[in-house]
Amino acid sequence: MSQTTSNPTNDDQIEFWNGKAGEEWAERNDQMDRMLAPFRDAAIAAAKPRPGERVLDIGCGCADTSLSLAKEVGPDGQVLGVDVSGPMLALAQHKAEAAQLSNCLSFEEADASAYGFDEGAFDLLFSRFGVMFFADPPGAFANMRKALKPSGRVAFICWAPVFDNDWVMVPLAAALQHIPAPEPAAPHAPGPFGLSDKVYVEEMLEIAGFSNIAIEPFEIMMRVGAGVEKDKIADFFMEMGPVSRALTNSDEALSDTVRAAIQAAVEPHYADGAVNLKGSCWIVTANNA
Ligand SMILES: C[S@@+](CC[C@H](N)C(=O)[O-])C[C@H]1O[C@@H](n2cnc3c(N)ncnc32)[C@H](O)[C@@H]1O
Repeated sequence: MSQTTSNPTNDDQIEFWNGKAGEEWAERNDQMDRMLAPFRDAAIAAAKPRPGERVLDIGCGCADTSLSLAKEVGPDGQVLGVDVSGPMLALAQHKAEAAQLSNCLSFEEADASAYGFDEGAFDLLFSRFGVMFFADPPGAFANMRKALKPSGRVAFICWAPVFDNDWVMVPLAAALQHIPAPEPAAPHAPGPFGLSDKVYVEEMLEIAGFSNIAIEPFEIMMRVGAGVEKDKIADFFMEMGPVSRALTNSDEALSDTVRAAIQAAVEPHYADGAVNLKGSCWIVTANNA
């Protein structure tokens, strides 16, 4: 794993994913992987990786999807996981070694929007929730497209608009009864919902040079915080994901009040060891032109 230069306009995100967010994601990795497994399976089904293929897993994080992709492409294939987060990649490397997949799975600590990929080397550009954080999405996708063979394809899953994601809206609405609402983000600003506008995603991929773009909805009841005890479930929302981001600048003195409000809002949805709330995404596929 080596370190490379990055696009300076992504500095905020790089700092964010190397700070508390990346550390907590790595600490809660088992819970996150369990929660996101249905999205992994749906995105990989859309990507259709084949034995012997070379795959890029962008924003691979702790490598749950990279490991699955490595098993799909087999010993004659290759997967390269690219991510900016040191703490998440350290766990990724450890998991690849433990699974004895290091021969066909490697990692690069790099900003995918600026990294000098081997040109025309990959069959598939894949991501589960790792491509919504670019300051310049068309530029980033154009850079990643250069890594694809002429016959290559892209497949990724990203969140649909926040208002369709109850797993965010239910705890967030409870928190916002006690803290000021964050400044509304600029359209398509880097963040979990940066690619939630379907029309924008299609235009953006066209500008980046992709063709045959398909954007399909994927909606499930998520099992949020699986394995967390019912009376501690508010902590999960306060530490992980979009709700924790909204709380970043909130008054610490209020945190017990906010925790109690989130707990009361999500507890009615707790069943079989997890909070069951709707998650809504887009599964995006396209071909290299
Ligand atoms: C929501 S997490 C998803 C992680 C992983 N794909 C998963 O599903 O478990 C987003 C990931 O994108 C990575 N990321 C953000 N900006 C990036 C960039 N410019 N280049 C590469 N990775 C980036 C973050 O470090 C983080 O690991």
